[in-house]
Amino acid sequence: MPGIFSGQNKKKAFIPASGISHFMKILGIATSPRKGANSQSLVEHVLAGAKKAGAKTELVRICDLDIAPCTGCSTCKEKGECIIDDDMGNLWEKMAKADAIVLGSPVYWGRLNAQAYPFIDRFYAYMKPDFSTDMPKGKKIVLALTCGGMPPEAIAPINAYVKSTFAFLGCTDGGYICQNQCLEPRDLTKFPETIKKAEELGKSLTK
Ligand SMILES: Cc1cc2nc3c(=O)[nH]c(=O)nc-3n(C[C@H](O)[C@H](O)[C@H](O)COP(=O)(O)O)c2cc1C
Repeated sequence: MPGIFSGQNKKKAFIPASGISHFMKILGIATSPRKGANSQSLVEHVLAGAKKAGAKTELVRICDLDIAPCTGCSTCKEKGECIIDDDMGNLWEKMAKADAIVLGSPVYWGRLNAQAYPFIDRFYAYMKPDFSTDMPKGKKIVLALTCGGMPPEAIAPINAYVKSTFAFLGCTDGGYICQNQCLEPRDLTKFPETIKKAEELGKSLTK
């Protein structure tokens, strides 16, 4: 939709034809049980870069939410609604309102950590028979991973997995960032280049 950027406000306010301004909204979703540790911090640096470029940002920690795993009961397919009453519905709404999603996870045994999977499995409740969803299309998905010792090529499949899963929600690839040698909770601070890259990645989401 054609629009202009407001001159009075340095923040990037997109004014669509309706006249209602729209700030880019970037939602961070951190899955580590370690509050404020490496993978959450990596997400926060991506969000910081986006915020500096004028976006509105929000961070959600999966471990602060109640999201149960899918039971495979398929009631959602019969009645169009999931029988589990927890925080997934609210998180889905936040995702729907975001222009981009930054998923941050530690690598556990060569994959995302266990806390990430109930959230991902529950996408199934929103799938129509043709596997489409009502999630607004075209938002970007970024993956931010930290790990102990695995080389980048060994964890690249996790990125491919996340991107193909979020593609079912109509998300497109917004980037990928990863840092190894992050065993202690604050180890990411030893990698200023990665932190800079994370901020640049965040900035790129506002373009
Ligand atoms: C259960 C468990 C499994 C792990 N598996 C791996 C692994 O397969 N490869 C790896 O490089 N690091 C592994 N690690 C290390 C974490 O990926 C690393 O410490 C990560 O930065 C933790 O993120 P956090 O600080 O956000 O919690 C594992 C850690 C735990 C606790």
